[in-house]
Amino acid sequence: MPNPPIALTGIKPSGEPHLGNYLGMIRPALALAGEYQTFYFIADYHALTTLHDGGELRRLTRVIAAAWLAFGLDPDRTLLYRQSDVPEIPELAWILSCFTPKGLLDRAHAFKDARAKNQEISAGLHFYPVLMAADILAFRAQAVPVGRDQKQHVEICRDIALGFNHVYGEILTPPQPLIRAEVQTIPGVDGRKMSKSYGNTLPLFAAPEALRKRVFQIQTDSTPVDAPKDPDAAALYQIYRCFAPPEASAELAARLRAGGLGWAAVKQALADLLDHQLAEPRRRYQQWMDDAAGLERLLARGGERARVLAAALLGEVRHAVGVR
Ligand code: TRP
Repeated sequence: MPNPPIALTGIKPSGEPHLGNYLGMIRPALALAGEYQTFYFIADYHALTTLHDGGELRRLTRVIAAAWLAFGLDPDRTLLYRQSDVPEIPELAWILSCFTPKGLLDRAHAFKDARAKNQEISAGLHFYPVLMAADILAFRAQAVPVGRDQKQHVEICRDIALGFNHVYGEILTPPQPLIRAEVQTIPGVDGRKMSKSYGNTLPLFAAPEALRKRVFQIQTDSTPVDAPKDPDAAALYQIYRCFAPPEASAELAARLRAGGLGWAAVKQALADLLDHQLAEPRRRYQQWMDDAAGLERLLARGGERARVLAAALLGEVRHAVGVR
């Protein structure tokens, strides 16, 4: 039997994990294990483009690793590693940069957004897509599960790989973005898409009381208790539906449409549901956070396995281009 294709993705350790990260990224990525060989890594070098606090970057790296493990990432099935444990990646990035038209980087949305907002732009931020291409190409990944915002970066990676192969032959594997339509985005407490940059998130690993308090901050309209309500227009229901079994969601929707159910009761129901669904992940998360040495060993082991693979590809690339 041929090996299943490789799906690889990076997670930037740039904030506390929230419900939107879980639904949009963690849950769908974990579901790919089995159908794909899954390689998931913590992109600490990418986070360095915006996070300049060593202690915080180290802490968030542990937080992200613990979060994925808490939701069931099995390190025997998924290769989990930290980008900075694999020095072959930045080495490959340099080589690739010599095959990357600068104009390609100028057209990257993330770069153009930063420029439009008049943000200070480091060379590292401009170079971001090249490092990301190295992440992907170092492991010959065929599929890159990402959100729509990262699709262009994967296309840039393809262009770089094709340009390189045009000169040296079929050495690099041009990847495809894997964007799944059914992946859910959910609203935050203010009704806009849940996102760190809006400050409207529900944290995954907050203490139960803190999460409950946050659920009660979710905005609702002023429809009276007795009046019928449209579940699909309510952030509360959108979130509920992502965590409840389908029958429970259908029942709640029906009760909202019928009238007689007030928003406070729905908040109560959502808080109870999240409390129940997150209890086990929260416990496992805390276990990993309390076991810094164990977590470090796990990442180091993943890093060693990843290095062996990346070193093999680097050997071919170095030989092809004529460096040591
Ligand atoms: N740029 C991605 C993000 O911001 C993270 C990332 C870094 C990544 N390297 C990657 C994703 C390689 C996929 C493949 O979300």
